[in-house]
Order: sequence, then C-alpha cells, then structure tokens
Amino acid sequence: MTDIGEIVRDIAEEMASRTDRGRVADYIAPLAEVDPMRFGLAVIEADGTCHLAGDAEAPFSIQSVSKVFALTLALGKVGDALWHRVGREPSGSAFNSIVQLETESGIPRNPFINAGAIVVSDIVLAGHQPREAVGEILRFARALAGEDAIFVDERVARAEQETGFRNAALANYMRAFGNLKHPVEQTLGVYFHQCAIAMSCRQLALAGRYLMLGGRNPGTGRSVVSAARARRINALMMTCGHYDGSGEFAYRVGLSGKSGVGGGILAVAPGRASIAVWSPGLNERGNSQIGTLALERLVQRTGWSVF
Ligand code: DON
Repeated sequence: MTDIGEIVRDIAEEMASRTDRGRVADYIAPLAEVDPMRFGLAVIEADGTCHLAGDAEAPFSIQSVSKVFALTLALGKVGDALWHRVGREPSGSAFNSIVQLETESGIPRNPFINAGAIVVSDIVLAGHQPREAVGEILRFARALAGEDAIFVDERVARAEQETGFRNAALANYMRAFGNLKHPVEQTLGVYFHQCAIAMSCRQLALAGRYLMLGGRNPGTGRSVVSAARARRINALMMTCGHYDGSGEFAYRVGLSGKSGVGGGILAVAPGRASIAVWSPGLNERGNSQIGTLALERLVQRTGWSVF
C-alpha cells in the first residue's frame, strides 16, 4: 500500500535541498522579508488522515488562495447570477493584467485573476460595511478549517493598500463599465484584507476539504456547496488557478489548484486529498516554484492526477 506519510516526508526532504527556489515577492515588505528556505506541506486524505512536513504549522500570507473562499461565498449569495459579471475562461495573461477589460466590457475573464476577484469582493460586500464583509470571509475560512486561529495580517493589508495602484486601476476601470456596485475604496478594502489572511498549510488543507468531498465539510457534516458546484469550482481552479501558468500546472500536476504570491498553493485531488503547500519563492508567473515541484512529486508517487 502507498505510504502517504513516507511520501510527504521524502518530498519535504528533497525540497529542503533544492537551490532553485524562485524569487520571493518583493512588492510589499512583509512578503519580501520571508525566508525563501521555508517549506511546508500538508496532505489531508478523504478519511481525515493528516500528514504534515516542514513548516506546515507556520502561518503565511495566503494572498490569492483566498479567492477560492471568496468565490464560494459569493456564489452562495447570488448563485449563478455571478457569471453575468465574471467569466469562466482562462485569461492567458498575468494575474494583474488590465488589457482584456477594455474590449470585453469590463467583465473579467475569470474569478481568480485580480480583476475577477475584485468583482467577487464587490459581491460579498453587498449590503455590508467593508469590515463586516471581511469578517464574513474570515469566519467562512475559520468554519471551513474548523479552527478559530485564523487572522487577517493587518500589516500586510496596510501594505497592499499603500501599494495597490494596479488593483485600484482595475477597480476604477470596471466601475466605469458599471461592473462594480460600491465605491472602489470599499471594494478594494475588502479585497486587500482577504488577500492578507494568514493561514498555515494545515489550516489551508483543512479548509479545502469541501472541494475534495463533493461540497461537504467533514468538520460539521454539512454541505458548503452542492456537489455540482464543488466540481465547477475545481474546474475553475484547474483552468484558471495559476493565471498564465495554469496550462503548465495542469500539465505537470494534473490537480485543481490555486496559488498566491505568498507562495502558497491549495490543491485538490477530488475524493482523495486536500493538499496545501508553501514555499515563498515564485516562478516567473508568480506561482510557487518549489511548491509546484512538490505537488508534481506527490502526484508522481501517488497517481492522484485527475487524468
Ligand atoms: O492583489 C495582488 O496583486 C496581491 N495581493 C495578490 C495577488 C496574488 O496572490 C497573485 N498570485 N499569484
């Protein structure tokens, strides 16, 4: 029988010795300061067995991985009407690109590029103050993980706000098309704070369990989303979760996955495992270099690719 624990330990050992670790994001100080040698891996199997290695308990900035939780929440609020305001196609462009918005009526290609995630934040904001909307996303992440020790890193949120000129440009541009319903500062406030949520690999893998289990959170026994919606969120993660590196990720790993510039990746092997990996060095597309390699190894050893 495949010993997943041994595989996880082997991978952590190999990754510790790799020198090709990519470059840590440096657009804000709190990310630039993170040691590129850090590495964490958490694998939670469908029966709940949890395997941890390296810095799997260390909180890091989940950044764009939060877009999965925000999307799930927004779909719960407005259902498929969300797709009138956000597309479902890979963009083939950088995560913060603005170009397609001009010819596509301010409708972002998908909910995982920055523009799409900002629209999703705008949907979560509806009927709330920004602080309440951030609280709702945070409570949702805590409920999915079944743990309360998950926080917004206010230093990261402030730095995002101070440097987020491109995100402000995206938001203003979409507002000009009528695709943001709230003042841009409010919507961006929600977006910046959700990006600043800090979680450990273990917490992130716990939070992703509903995507491996047909929409059910095993912590509560309740459905977070329907099985059909879980399948669709997984499909979007596979096709769009790594931006213009999504094809490469599908080719090498073959799992649905969502990356963040903090170096985290949440990956899902439906029916088998929820996986979180963290290594802060990024490749040229802004996705974790060693994190991707670790997932590639995991899939080679377990055969968990969906293909
Ligand atoms: O909005 C931004 O640009 C960052 N706060 C998050 C982007 C991100 O994580 C993209 N991931 N690779």
